[in-house]
Parts: sequence; structure tokens; C-alpha cells
Amino acid sequence: MGLMAKRDGRYAAVGISSDTEMGSDGVIFCTNVEGSQPVIYYGYNDGKSSAYKSGQNPAAASNRKVWEQDGHFMCSFTQPLSLEIPGESALNLAEKHHLLVSTGSIGDSSEPRYHGSDKIASSEPVDLTDNSALTSAGVPRLIKAHGSLMLVAWVGTAGIGILSAQHLRLTWVGKQIFGKDVWFTIHRAMMVLTALCTWTGFALIVTHLKTLSFGHPHNILGFIVFLISVVQVAGALLRPSPEARLRPLFAWGHRLGGLAAYLLSLVALFLARQLPQLDLPRYWLWLLTGAIALDVVVSLVFMAIHHCVGDSRVDPDVGSPSKHEAPGSSLRKILLAIYIFFSAAFVVAMVTTLALSDA
Ligand code: HEM
Ligand code: HEM
Repeated sequence: MGLMAKRDGRYAAVGISSDTEMGSDGVIFCTNVEGSQPVIYYGYNDGKSSAYKSGQNPAAASNRKVWEQDGHFMCSFTQPLSLEIPGESALNLAEKHHLLVSTGSIGDSSEPRYHGSDKIASSEPVDLTDNSALTSAGVPRLIKAHGSLMLVAWVGTAGIGILSAQHLRLTWVGKQIFGKDVWFTIHRAMMVLTALCTWTGFALIVTHLKTLSFGHPHNILGFIVFLISVVQVAGALLRPSPEARLRPLFAWGHRLGGLAAYLLSLVALFLARQLPQLDLPRYWLWLLTGAIALDVVVSLVFMAIHHCVGDSRVDPDVGSPSKHEAPGSSLRKILLAIYIFFSAAFVVAMVTTLALSDA
């Protein structure tokens, strides 16, 4: 059996369980107290707290080897099929069990601290004598679905919807879709999709974690983005008419809320790569950086078009804009098409990377 964790005051543990939750299960720990050799213990989990039950390096765990690799320590040992934990009944490892693998820090009394979110459970019971089964747990499907929906929303549809409200109000003037201006129909459709993906993605991750947990900055920022998306849609549904006195208040609140959600979502996406359940490749960051660079470049080109050919934006305070097509219309349409094409490419690349990733 082999266990691996980061160096310096960390432990790696495998719980042997009849289900996917901790509680009344046998555990094998490998600890790494700074300045000493890693040590193996047998332990037991009572509810969420775990305790060492055996002495250091129990004789049953033979052929012990420890070594370091890339800032991690590795523990390898031979474990008989009967796991005998002092004070508990022996566990028969020849039967199939769920494996609960976790890492965490070690307390002052060299007890392991609760592992928080650094844990992963095998989705199926595992036959410990079959090597091939040990590698197959992977990233849970609900996490992949959560991440994919969020990527579609915040790398895909949100950017297109916001760009339409910012730069396309005086494009397709005189044409309407479903009785509304084209820019508005694009914005509404894209932002409703963004919100639906965000809400479904949120429901999936809460179902997976079975709780709201704010243990990682990704979760905190993600939760704020979710709340803002609710407020944006509610605000838009209740928006005052363009001539109403309160319209500028809506316009500015909605504008600031929308931009805040967009910026925070990008930070949440960067932070997602650090989450312990995931092992996304380095190029994930390059894809994300590319998607942001696309936003910046396309926004700058739009501004250049407004500057050189004539301003085609509308001041949100002014209410009803003059209904003349602004010059440079075809350029703006081409730019929108380029933006949609490359945004879609980034979404497909990032979702595929996530779907194929393994923890
Ligand atoms: C801007 C887009 C995203 C938003 C708004 C968002 C939102 C959230 C929220 C609110 C939580 C906490 C849920 C809870 O406490 O029950 C969470 C957790 C999580 N998210 Fe996201 N997420 C986003 C993108 C992603 C992506 C792209 C991935 C994967 C690549 C991802 C993976 C995860 C994972 C693994 C957790 C669980 C963390 C834990 O164990 O505490 N998220 N996300
Ligand atoms: C997550 C949801 C949403 C976000 C993040 C969002 C974001 C934005 C942003 C950033 C702007 C300002 C663009 C600019 O001028 O710089 C804007 C404008 C606008 N949005 Fe949304 N939006 C959302 C949903 C909606 C929905 C569902 C509707 C309509 C049903 C809507 C209607 C409008 C209108 C009417 C404006 C123009 C406001 C004005 O200048 O008078 N938005 N939105």
C-alpha cells in the first residue's frame, strides 16, 4: 500500500469504510512531523474525529519505505489482509471497502487535525487486492458538471451578453426580435442562460458537498457571484421603464452589479484550480488567461471603433437613445462573430480538460 502527502507537518491517511462517510472506520496514517522520519500508525475514526490507536510503525505494516519526491513524502508498506487495530475488532481487507483518502496537518500533540476538504472517497467499493481498481475513483461527476456549467456561464454566455449591452445598442437599429431591440434580446437571452447555468451549477455542488462550506476562497467568491446573479435577474424583471425617474438608479446598480459578478467570477475560476479535489493541468491557467485577454482585446477594439468611426454607445442615464444606426456597424458585427467563435473555443477547451481530468 502506498500513501503520499506534501512534506512538513502533514499526514496522509486511508480510511477503510463500508460507506462513503467517515465514522467508526479503520484508518492507516502516515505522518510527517518536521525534522523526523515519516511514521505509520493504525487508528480509528469515531464520528469525524480520528485518533491513533497503535504505537509508531506497528509490526504488521512490514517492508516500510519512505522517500521524498517533488516536495511530497511517500510511504509504502505491506499490509496483511487482516487490519488489527488495538481495542477494535479486526477488519477483513479481503472484502470490498470504500476508501476515504485524506491529507491534513498534524496538531501539537502530533494528532491529525480534521482534514476539512482535503479528502476524496472512492465512488465504488474497492477490492484492495486488485491494483487496477485503486486508481479509478476520479473527480466526482457532480463536481465536473458544476465546473462545466460555470464555465459555460462565465467564460461563454456572460461575456457575449455584457458586450451586447455595452457596445451593440446602436447596431441593428430598426430591427426587432420578439418585439424588442436586437441588443436587448441578445443581452436578455445570454444573461438568462448565464443565471440558469449558475443556479444549476450551485445546486449541484451544494448537493455534492451536502452543505454550504466557506473553507476556501473559491467557495466564498462563488457564493457572492451566485447571490449577485439572483439580484441582477430580480432587478431586471422589476426594472422601471426607460422614461421613469428611477431608471438611472436601476441602470447604474445593474451595471455595477453585473461588472462585479463578472470580475469576481474570473477570480473564482482562477482559484478553482487550487481545490484539492481537482488536479487540472497548468495549461488550464493559460486557457483562462487567454479567455480574459480575448475580452480585453475585443473591448479595446470596440472602443477604438467608437473613437474612430463615431460613438455607438448610449449613456444609460439618457434613457431612450436616438434611433439611428451608428457608423461602423459591419465592423461591430464581425467583431461580435469573432468574439463568439473564440469564447466558444475557450469554453470547449476548458470543459474538455475538466471532463478528462483525474484527481
Ligand atoms: C465562476 C464560476 C464558479 C462559481 C460561481 C462557483 C461557485 C461555487 C460555490 C458557491 C461553491 C461552494 C458550494 C458550497 O459551499 O456548498 C463551490 C465549490 C466548488 N467548486 Fe465552484 N464555482 C465556479 C467554478 C468552478 C469550476 C470551473 C470548478 C472546477 C474546475 C469548480 C469546482 C468546485 C469544487 C471542486 C468545489 C468544492 C470545494 C469544497 O470542497 O469546498 N468551481 N463553487
Ligand atoms: C446575471 C444576470 C445579468 C448580468 C450580469 C447583467 C449585466 C449587465 C451589465 C454589465 C449591463 C451594463 C452594460 C453597460 O452599459 O455597460 C447591463 C445592462 C442592462 N441589462 Fe443586464 N445583466 C443581467 C441580466 C439581465 C436581464 C435578465 C435583463 C432583462 C430581462 C437585463 C436587462 C438589462 C438592461 C435593460 C440593461 C440596460 C440598462 C440601461 O442602461 O438602462 N439584464 N446588464
